[in-house]
Amino acid sequence: MITVTAASGHLGRLVLTDLLDRGLPAEQIAAVARTPEKVAAFTARGVQVRQADYARPDTLGVALAGATKLLFISGSEVGQRRAQHRNVIEAAQAAGVGMIAYTSILKADTSSVPLAEEHLATEHMIRESGLPFVFLRNGWYLENYTEAGLPQALATGSVIGSAGTGRVAAATRADFAAAAVAVLTAAGPVSPAGTVYELGGDQPFTLAELAAEISRQVGREITYQDLPADVYAKALTDAGVPEPMAAALAASDVGIARGDLTTDSGDLSRLIGRPTTSLADAVRTAIVG
Ligand SMILES: NC(=O)c1ccc[n+]([C@@H]2O[C@H](COP(=O)([O-])OP(=O)(O)OC[C@H]3O[C@@H](n4cnc5c(N)ncnc54)[C@H](OP(=O)(O)O)[C@@H]3O)[C@@H](O)[C@H]2O)c1
Repeated sequence: MITVTAASGHLGRLVLTDLLDRGLPAEQIAAVARTPEKVAAFTARGVQVRQADYARPDTLGVALAGATKLLFISGSEVGQRRAQHRNVIEAAQAAGVGMIAYTSILKADTSSVPLAEEHLATEHMIRESGLPFVFLRNGWYLENYTEAGLPQALATGSVIGSAGTGRVAAATRADFAAAAVAVLTAAGPVSPAGTVYELGGDQPFTLAELAAEISRQVGREITYQDLPADVYAKALTDAGVPEPMAAALAASDVGIARGDLTTDSGDLSRLIGRPTTSLADAVRTAIVG
């Protein structure tokens, strides 16, 4: 049984779709969701949907029962994830899962990005659990720029950020999902020492290059405006982003300036067996659909 947690999120749904599209029998897939209504389409396709909340250990035992391979997708409640993730790992241990693949963050062990702290703590807990593991250290989603940032850039003529000339190895969620599926469906034993993948797009870009690409595709000038982190965070809160998330995003841009969210590992394209989706293609899809 391949079990996928946070199945109701964007990444989880892409993973489930990819598994089914590759012909994996639906009865061999379990989708663990805090909000099962969001994955009703997969219930209809024969996937076993199980309700569980990372914050409620009593829900996790039944949800993870029978998992030979577990894709543990990190939760989204920043600040609560250390305790929540401990619950998931303890339940995975109790269920005797054969392998746990965890979606971490690029360079979790050296990153200065505050969001990396809970990921690194989770990695430590997984190592200490003794379970065979794979860390999928995902870079930034391209969608952070093409969904959240693009409308703002088109409306104001500027991409804003605090990343300076730092590069970000962003990749689409679909590419990260395909990497997870490759790990979940790989034949052969998992390395007893664990495996760590540093996953990012093949062509890391600066935010000035992002602005130039949008500019090229829309046929008018879009510039990159580099802001001090506090000014950028304020611009995000003014645009409706909750304050803690705005602070985290601004701090992440400072991390990009330091090189924390880039990689030249090539792990992502190797795992998915093709080049990663380019910035140009992602921007084109966002603009023309
Ligand atoms: N690399 C990046 O750029 C980036 C960006 C954003 C997030 N992330 C991380 O990657 C993860 C997956 O990305 P995504 O795009 O799928 O995020 P998403 O669409 O926001 O989905 C988050 C998922 O986490 C689930 N979740 C949150 N708290 C939970 C809890 N206490 N118990 C059980 N499930 C819980 C949500 O369940 P509900 O549907 O019930 O809310 C949802 O399924 C995120 O959760 C976050 O850790 C990475």
